Amino acid sequence: MTDQNASPRSFSASVPLQGRIAIPGDKSISHRALMLSALAIGESRVTGLLEGHDVLATAAAMRAMGAGIERRDDGEWRIHGVGVGGLLQPREALDMGNSGTSTRLLMGLVASHPITATFTGDASLSGRPMGRVIEPLSQMGADIDASPGGRLPLMVRGLAPAIPLAYRLPMASAQVKSAVLLAGLNTPGVTEVIEPVPTRDHSERMLRGFGADLAVETDADGTRHIRIVGEAELKPQTIVVPGDPSSAAFFIVAALIVPGSDITVANVGLNPTRAGLIEVLQAMGGDIELLDARDVGGEPVADLRVRHSALKGIDVDPAVAPSMIDEFPILFVAAALAEGRTVTTGLDELRVKESDRLAVMATGLKAIGARVEESEDGLIIDGTGGDPLPGGATIAGHLDHRICMSFAIAGLVSTTPVTVDDMAPVATSFPDFEVLLAGLQGAAGAP
Ligand code: S3P
Repeated sequence: MTDQNASPRSFSASVPLQGRIAIPGDKSISHRALMLSALAIGESRVTGLLEGHDVLATAAAMRAMGAGIERRDDGEWRIHGVGVGGLLQPREALDMGNSGTSTRLLMGLVASHPITATFTGDASLSGRPMGRVIEPLSQMGADIDASPGGRLPLMVRGLAPAIPLAYRLPMASAQVKSAVLLAGLNTPGVTEVIEPVPTRDHSERMLRGFGADLAVETDADGTRHIRIVGEAELKPQTIVVPGDPSSAAFFIVAALIVPGSDITVANVGLNPTRAGLIEVLQAMGGDIELLDARDVGGEPVADLRVRHSALKGIDVDPAVAPSMIDEFPILFVAAALAEGRTVTTGLDELRVKESDRLAVMATGLKAIGARVEESEDGLIIDGTGGDPLPGGATIAGHLDHRICMSFAIAGLVSTTPVTVDDMAPVATSFPDFEVLLAGLQGAAGAP
């Protein structure tokens, strides 16, 4: 059956990319800014919020649970919070769309409030495992009825007061960590997350920024103990959301692989728990220069100048994976254009993202003529050494924004156009992706 609403698009060999673009707000930080503002007492103001479908799903859910959330014409968001403990029972099911972050973090919030909420989502989200949050939240006292396999739709009956927990993360997941910390916000006593492998720390930074009593202790072996004191009182904040490095990634790689390119990607968040891709691309020979390094809203930010480069394949250290977990699809495209072999391992988590990103990238890259082998936990890619890929295939995006954008960029270095069967999912995280791409292509011919 064909999807009447699908937006197929073809991407073909590109002129050099030139000019400057500003990257829209970080998705992870935007979700958290809305959630914590909605739990503060008083009015918070947020600028630079990402207005993608995933973040709008979070906004709608927080509204449904009592927060006042409005967007002013100048783009600033104003949020009137209900206070920790003050979330109201939503009247209808919360539609999470495609957003795993909204689902898992909000399940944490609901778990320690005396309310019941049902979570639903699209076909991609309904296939993703929620057991990883059901387990700790159940230990805290929430009663969760999930569909078979611990999936959506599911219903969370919160418990207040909930039971504090010390929880060791069984996988490197910022979403699971954040779900437990957010549940801990309204739980009397100390809730602790033990994190053997560091993941993005936006929740910790922002909880502290809102005045929560949160402490982090790191063991000699790098294991982090994150402790939050519950029944917190959050104070409203003014937040500037920095640009999303996971969105910037597509243009960084595009400029590296499209011959003659020289671009500046402005406003890129470079929190060390997110910046792994830059390191890996530089190790592959990518010419990426950091300009005007600064601090935006408590997060490091810089502008990046990126020039076309002869990339070389490398073995990617699996330890770097959590700091670039969303960037592997586009790294695989870079590897397909590099000289020699790129080997990635330790990427089991990619199989439970918006799609099975190892299988879907391997299938798609092979279809456009790249040499790829799929292993249990990674891909092995033998690159072209800079020669264009053959292209000439239609790629199934599987409702996965990052797959769609990765193959759009692959099309720019393909002899025959690459068609993505549906670019609509891109609006979950990066509604302006095609507009910004066209700007960088148009600028090349400008006088
Ligand atoms: C996110 C964490 C990551 C990432 C996702 C956003 C977050 O997921 O893939 O896009 O905002 O906490 P995991 O924590 O499950 O790895």
